[in-house]
Amino acid sequence: MPRALPRPLVAGNWKMNGLKAARRELDGMVRGLAKGGRPACDVFVCPPATLIARLAEAARGSPIKIGGQDCHARPSGAHTGDVAAEMLADAGAKAVIVGHSERRHDHGETDAIVAGKVEAAWRAGLVAIVCVGETEAERDRGEAEAVVARSLAGSLPAGVEARNTVVAYEPVWAIGTGRTPTTDEIEAMHGLIRARLTARFGPGADGVRLLYGGSVKPDNAAAILALKDVNGALVGGASLKADSFLAILGVYARKPSLKKSAPKARR
Ligand code: PGA
Repeated sequence: MPRALPRPLVAGNWKMNGLKAARRELDGMVRGLAKGGRPACDVFVCPPATLIARLAEAARGSPIKIGGQDCHARPSGAHTGDVAAEMLADAGAKAVIVGHSERRHDHGETDAIVAGKVEAAWRAGLVAIVCVGETEAERDRGEAEAVVARSLAGSLPAGVEARNTVVAYEPVWAIGTGRTPTTDEIEAMHGLIRARLTARFGPGADGVRLLYGGSVKPDNAAAILALKDVNGALVGGASLKADSFLAILGVYARKPSLKKSAPKARR
């Protein structure tokens, strides 16, 4: 029997952007989704930790769920400035991004540290959105697939299932740059990630959503989201404004036949 496709997921990563007034954008997203009908995908918005409780309140009753952008591996203790997964859940989060390349780069997070955070997310009942991706130099050296496979293996602890984990492939050089891999390159990497998950975790991981992230915008979303083994997107800059995020979500409001005919643009 062919495997059922996982329900897509589009997650917005606001990074270190947003004061209280940013609730306006979330309100705009809620209104837009109410008007356009529920999209055929799950939707997360991951604001800075300071906004989680406020936005969880604003999103209540809508298709939008709120997520965090990082968590500490421990549930509490002497870790000044850190936020526990349990605290995110307590504030209303349902998911947390872990291992984003900006965390790996700015805070020296290793795959082992990321794996500890994934376990913390699960312990708190959160979905872990685990990011992996190669740098430009690694891709230029032909090492992209090896680097991603290694990082995936090290960042995922035992126990990955469709209900508790999402993997985001985010080439570091595509984040915030307006550049994206070719559709062939994205498909190849997602195929590799899918194969590795199945080999290691078995059929329980078949439904793990694989998101592409890195310069997803309204004008390239349809082509990217139509690719095999791409089950959604992790969106940075274009998730900050209701209009652009709704335009990306709109891809899942269209008929599947339209998505299939999306051009295989190379850029
Ligand atoms: P971008 O960021 O969409 O602004 O490139 C994506 C991400 O870092 O998650």
